[in-house]
Amino acid sequence: MVLLRLLTFTLLSSYFHPGTEVDAQRQFTIRSIMLTIEPGTNVTRDTNVTVRCKATVSSSSQEALSCEYTIYKDSSTVYTKRSSTAEDLLYPLPNAKVSNSGKYKCKITIEGKEMTSEATKLTVTGMSKPVLQLNRNAVSEGEEVTAWCEAPGETGSIFFYLYEDSKVIQEHSNSNPMEAKIRFRNVGLHKVHCAYAVLVMPNTFNSVESNTITVSVKELSIRPVLEIFPQDKVYEGDQLSITCNIRNALYSPENTPIDLYLSLGTKLLSSGKNKVNHTMVALAKDPGDFECRLEKGHVEKVITKMVSVTELFSSPTLTMNPADVFKGEVMSLTCKSESYASERINKEELTYTLEPSVSPLISTKPGEFSVKALTFDFNYTCEAQAKGIKKRSETLTVRPKVPVSIPKISVVGRAILGKPVKIRCHSDFGSFPINYTLLTGDDILSTSTVRLPTQEAVFTVTINKPEEIRKYMCKAQNNPKNGLPSSRLNATLIEPLRGLTLTVLPDLTEISEGNQLYLICGTKGTPPVTYKFYRVGDKRPLLTNTLNENNTHYHVDKLSKEHSGTYYCEADNHANNVVRSEKVIVEVHMALWKKAVIGGVCLLVVSVLVAVCVLYIKSKRVRVVRAAVSVWSERPPEADKDEEDVSSVMSSEPDVEYTEVVHPQPADAARVPPRKGTDTVYSELKNLPPGAADHHDYGSVEYAELNSDRPEINPHPPEVNNYHDLPKPVD
Ligand SMILES: *[C@@H]1O[C@H](CO)[C@@H](O)[C@H](O)[C@H]1NC(C)=O
Ligand SMILES: *[C@@H]1O[C@H](CO)[C@@H](O)[C@H](O)[C@H]1NC(C)=O
Ligand SMILES: *[C@@H]1O[C@H](CO)[C@@H](O)[C@H](O)[C@H]1NC(C)=O
Ligand SMILES: *[C@@H]1O[C@H](CO)[C@@H](O)[C@H](O)[C@H]1NC(C)=O
Ligand SMILES: *[C@@H]1O[C@H](CO)[C@@H](O)[C@H](O)[C@H]1NC(C)=O
Ligand SMILES: *[C@@H]1O[C@H](CO)[C@@H](O)[C@H](O)[C@H]1NC(C)=O
Ligand SMILES: *[C@@H]1O[C@H](CO)[C@@H](O)[C@H](O)[C@H]1NC(C)=O
Repeated sequence: MVLLRLLTFTLLSSYFHPGTEVDAQRQFTIRSIMLTIEPGTNVTRDTNVTVRCKATVSSSSQEALSCEYTIYKDSSTVYTKRSSTAEDLLYPLPNAKVSNSGKYKCKITIEGKEMTSEATKLTVTGMSKPVLQLNRNAVSEGEEVTAWCEAPGETGSIFFYLYEDSKVIQEHSNSNPMEAKIRFRNVGLHKVHCAYAVLVMPNTFNSVESNTITVSVKELSIRPVLEIFPQDKVYEGDQLSITCNIRNALYSPENTPIDLYLSLGTKLLSSGKNKVNHTMVALAKDPGDFECRLEKGHVEKVITKMVSVTELFSSPTLTMNPADVFKGEVMSLTCKSESYASERINKEELTYTLEPSVSPLISTKPGEFSVKALTFDFNYTCEAQAKGIKKRSETLTVRPKVPVSIPKISVVGRAILGKPVKIRCHSDFGSFPINYTLLTGDDILSTSTVRLPTQEAVFTVTINKPEEIRKYMCKAQNNPKNGLPSSRLNATLIEPLRGLTLTVLPDLTEISEGNQLYLICGTKGTPPVTYKFYRVGDKRPLLTNTLNENNTHYHVDKLSKEHSGTYYCEADNHANNVVRSEKVIVEVHMALWKKAVIGGVCLLVVSVLVAVCVLYIKSKRVRVVRAAVSVWSERPPEADKDEEDVSSVMSSEPDVEYTEVVHPQPADAARVPPRKGTDTVYSELKNLPPGAADHHDYGSVEYAELNSDRPEINPHPPEVNNYHDLPKPVD
């Protein structure tokens, strides 16, 4: 026993591990592997097909090697076998079907070495005809029929299709044969057949059609009946009685109760067995049709009926009068049904109520309410009622208006004389739309309606006379009864500059070296004004000055020859029109004192001669000497002054050659410089000892000599030495 067991073990172990002891010594190589299909690669259905796998292995030992064969169909493993013989591997496909079609490959594995054959394609043609069977071929509507469809002998992935005429009614892929339940919707004859398809990736192969079976479906002899009372004209509020039941002479409801459903539109009114009824009040609004529905098994039968309900009275409308109401004003709200069925009700039966019934509320006549407008938006509705029927109006939103506030009139941007001026009229409060009217005096110029807070009433006018601007005013109105006026327009009208004059001080003929020079630029127009003084040839203005005066000046403290030139000035204000003065040629003369010096010298010579004569006479007569002394002391101050002038000029500027003598001239009223324009200059000039000049008016002011480097050498009142002629304005 023990011996036998040992022997068996040895045999088995050598069988399962045939080469364990000789592995190390044995050498082998797989030379080739080939797959063939017998009897051919293109066979008809039910052929006994064999897939043959032939491997050639060279080995150093006579002993057969243990190898493993794998057969693939379309890359999935269909067969595996271990073998230790050198024989070919055979994979039988008895009675081949379409599903056996595909690409076959074979793989051999020996001790880790492997080799795979080329793929060989097998095509099996021909499919069996499907067979259809039904459990019954005559049914009542709603009843089921069971159908079986079989693909005899077919294997693989099979899909069954059940047809009624040429239309697929069901699909199945579960089993062969397949079973399906069919229900026919329509009464009459129905022809049924089936077919199948085998899926062989990536193709499907379709079978021929099965036998056709005709099923006859009989109509169910029951039907629902819908009755509605009253049958003639129905008014709102009438009682409606609706009955839904079954009519069938042969059918006895006691046997199998049938479900009935009574509905109106989408609302189920009642449901029950064999008979249902419902009572309701007829309403005018259309909710849909009445429907009586019968359900038995899978059979359903429906009957519908429409009931037209005549309105007893129409829905009321709520209106207000006047259409626009201001806060706190009394308005009239009217609630009214436009029409009513006079054959059923009379007008007095219709009652109206307002909601909410705010006080104070006076109902003057049916449907009319006097209401005081609140200070905020308010919603009202009203209700009309008769014979238990209530109808509500749509919501009326009363938006009380805010009276317009006193408008303000202003100018947008700048108002320039003679140019378009934009005048804005605006009220801070007030409901839209607001009408703004622009007036000048009592004349209405224009009206603008503002409907949105983003809009503005802006009028464009052209003002041609400065005083006109104050006449403008506007009116705001959002209530047809009255409008509110604004104050008069208070704005500065910018007058464009004109009449620009350049005045030279002192007179052009008297401009000498060392003198002061004033160029006064004056204009008419609205300040602020920007003045610019230019000398021809200079690139930049000599002076740019912006100020609120109608003149300004350019001042040269100590004239020299270089200041000679052609001068002009320009002015500009917010009207943006630059005006330019005439050009003035200023020529600086030398300080001409030569004649004065000569005169002085002559005078001195004369004086000396006189003195000599006097001394000579004195030497003759003592009494005459006294008289001569009194004459000397009574000399006029002019002479004294001249003497001193001459001496000081001579001492300070001995080299200067004087070619002209300045002669004082009387004041000339016609040559008065512009008053305001020269205020600064004049105030400087007038800053003299009291009594130095007469101050009758501007025209008679005497001008101090402008040569400022000489005042301290003149001890006498300046009038003595003043120029009495006034500068001539240059236009
Ligand atoms: C297979 O044979 C059928 C006839 O038996 C032929 O119609 C078909 O073309 C053949 N197919 C191939 C791939 O040889
Ligand atoms: C196929 O083989 C079966 C036995 O496996 C045999 O009965 C049948 O006759 C064979 N069919 C053909 C066509 O050879
Ligand atoms: C409705 O049916 C119930 C019972 O089925 C019956 O009592 C009632 O009178 C019926 N009403 C009408 C209006 O037919
Ligand atoms: C008035 O009714 C409208 C809708 O109709 C609503 O949007 C609004 O808020 C209501 N106003 C008031 C003040 O109740
Ligand atoms: C505003 O003006 C328009 C047309 O000019 C006019 O129809 C409307 O009644 C005016 N509105 C008021 C409140 O005056
Ligand atoms: C005009 O406006 C100015 C300043 O804007 C103000 O000082 C003056 O009082 C106003 N005049 C009138 C008449 O309102
Ligand atoms: C300048 O303004 C003053 C008053 O401010 C006026 O008397 C004078 O005539 C004006 N001059 C010119 C040139 O308009």
